[in-house]
Amino acid sequence: MDFDLTEEQRLIIDTARDFAAREIAPKAAELDKTGRWPTEIVARMAELGFMGMCIPPEYGGGGLDPLSYALAMEEISAACASCGVIMSVNNSLFCDPVYKFGTEEQKKNVLTPVASGQKLGCFGLTEPMSGSDAQTMITTAEKTADGWVLNGAKNWITNGPHADYILVFAVTDRTGGKVRHTAFLVEKGTPGYTQNARDHKLGIHAAHSCTVFFENCKVPDSAIVGKVGEGFKVAMATLDGGRIGIASQALGIARAALDVSVQYSKERKSFGVPISQHQAIAFMLANMATELDAARLLTWRAASMKEKGVRHSPESAMAKLYASEMATRVAHKAIQVHGGYGYSTEFPVERHYRDARITEIYEGTSEIQRIVIAASVLA
Ligand code: CAA
Repeated sequence: MDFDLTEEQRLIIDTARDFAAREIAPKAAELDKTGRWPTEIVARMAELGFMGMCIPPEYGGGGLDPLSYALAMEEISAACASCGVIMSVNNSLFCDPVYKFGTEEQKKNVLTPVASGQKLGCFGLTEPMSGSDAQTMITTAEKTADGWVLNGAKNWITNGPHADYILVFAVTDRTGGKVRHTAFLVEKGTPGYTQNARDHKLGIHAAHSCTVFFENCKVPDSAIVGKVGEGFKVAMATLDGGRIGIASQALGIARAALDVSVQYSKERKSFGVPISQHQAIAFMLANMATELDAARLLTWRAASMKEKGVRHSPESAMAKLYASEMATRVAHKAIQVHGGYGYSTEFPVERHYRDARITEIYEGTSEIQRIVIAASVLA
């Protein structure tokens, strides 16, 4: 693995960091407070090519490598974790699988507007009674003479209230004691496909999620992504990439918490000196920086394996597991460095703490990452 970033990758960091500092960071507290969907930021992320970064230009994307995507995700998430996950779901959970498994027609008609950011995508795997054990989903798609009829509900659908398309997974076959799933593309406005009001959550307030419903929702055969009966593999392969995006989001949150802690520790005085001169504080900062770097290396390794096209399930799981738990630890310590002010909404660290927590849950809990890692350790 080459640790030197290319000129292009450095440019992506600079572009994303500059954009995030000018146009996202000043609004992050307001977005968190109001839970407003950041329409104008999503539009600017589209203009900058951040909504389909690894998709080839002929399908509306940036034609970049997964490490470039991870770098941009860290920058956007350092400014606002909500904006980070909006971007991550569109890139990793929608564009990637449609590009990898979709038909030419789907790539032209659906992927191109979503990768260029004119339209928005979301991913429907989780159900009210089926989260970690994703194969137990009960949403069905029944074959008819001219297509399929979907029935069921999917919840925690990030981007769901605003998405133009959903990539949804349904059971299509239960014969022979084996459950087989298939992936479908459904467009907003298709009769029988509805969304309810957005969820209310601990953090990432501006990244809206909701439950979506399929009631006798008819789709044509051309809505199938990948092969009939192989939808679960589409979902799992997609999450191998998605977990790199969430690991990068966690890096961004932790970096923001560390940066503001370093700055505060140099300004705040106690016992006659800046608190950074107390070893108790300096050691906290040292641990935070070390853990952040370790998580970044795991994330960059997973991204570079994805670029090489080799299976990277355990590497993505390690990156997501370590980065997400690290982000919670770092944000926790950031509050400690700030003392009482850290607990106040006047400072950003309590937001970082709330935002970090979800990274240990979505796209597979820490426990699911350990299952994936253990399977490779014990193989
Ligand atoms: N790539 C390709 N195929 C894969 C794969 C991968 N990474 N992982 C598994 N498969 C294949 C297996 O080879 C197997 O194929 P065969 O049937 O041909 O043998 C099949 O898929 C089933 O695999 P498992 O037996 O390992 O499946 P399992 O039922 O034991 O589940 C699991 C494995 C890891 C626990 C999985 O259910 C899982 O990842 N659960 C968590 C789900 C999750 O992450 N949900 C997140 C929702 S999205 C989200 O959160 C979005 C958001 O809001 C931001």
